[in-house]
Amino acid sequence: MMLYLLPSGDHDWAKELSDKTGIPFLPVDKEPEDDSLRLVLSDRGLFLSDGTLSYQGDFHTLLARVEKNRLNSELLVKAAKPKSFSTGATLLDATAGLGEDSFLLAAAGFCVTLCERNPVIFSLLADTMKRAREEALLPILSRMELYFGDSKELLQSADGKYDLVYLDPMFPARAKSGLIKKKFQLLQKLERPEENGEELLSVAISAHPKKILVKRPKNAPFLGEKAPSYTIAGDTIRYDCIV
Ligand SMILES: C[S@@+](CC[C@H](N)C(=O)[O-])C[C@H]1O[C@@H](n2cnc3c(N)ncnc32)[C@H](O)[C@@H]1O
Repeated sequence: MMLYLLPSGDHDWAKELSDKTGIPFLPVDKEPEDDSLRLVLSDRGLFLSDGTLSYQGDFHTLLARVEKNRLNSELLVKAAKPKSFSTGATLLDATAGLGEDSFLLAAAGFCVTLCERNPVIFSLLADTMKRAREEALLPILSRMELYFGDSKELLQSADGKYDLVYLDPMFPARAKSGLIKKKFQLLQKLERPEENGEELLSVAISAHPKKILVKRPKNAPFLGEKAPSYTIAGDTIRYDCIV
């Protein structure tokens, strides 16, 4: 994977990202014309592109969902039950991905640590958060902190540090691949399905949070065959809550 830095892109930030993730960056005059999967940085931020499709995270698309009257009807927020925690409760999103679930949880009042180990997904998320911080989303962003690395390492030294741990490991089988949204077509080229979700769950349990929340496809088996204390299910997904 290469990060192409266009002349309008932020050189210092490209270097910072490259130093942190190990993704090499190359200043170029224009985006290459081949179909290789790559990151491209311009003054409009960072894009994942294969020359035909491109993807960039944008928390603005979630603004309607975080409006006061609507946020509490989000299945994720119902499952997390922020009102059962004290103000400023801490939450580790151990599978941050593109940060959309974290954004909803931060909007609901949690102080969220987002941890992502895939260098490309981390870069896209870091850029999404950077752009959002510069805009009207600052109050929510001020409750979000991003780490690069394997969340098992954070959890192993976290005894009691997090009130809630959230797990959304990628689920392997996707039978109706034709229905996958465009953005996932690109992202699925990056991350193999999580094979150690069970290990992640057992490390999360050993970190002694008050609650662990696991997102699953509605009819999937329990992660690690661990029966939850309760489940909140929607049409296609469910949240298994281990208290
Ligand atoms: C299904 S996605 C999460 C989507 C996310 N909930 C969202 O709202 O965008 C799963 C993500 O977890 C990351 N991941 C899986 N295991 C991890 C681990 N042990 N540490 C850090 N990140 C992990 C993967 O790289 C992938 O980006």
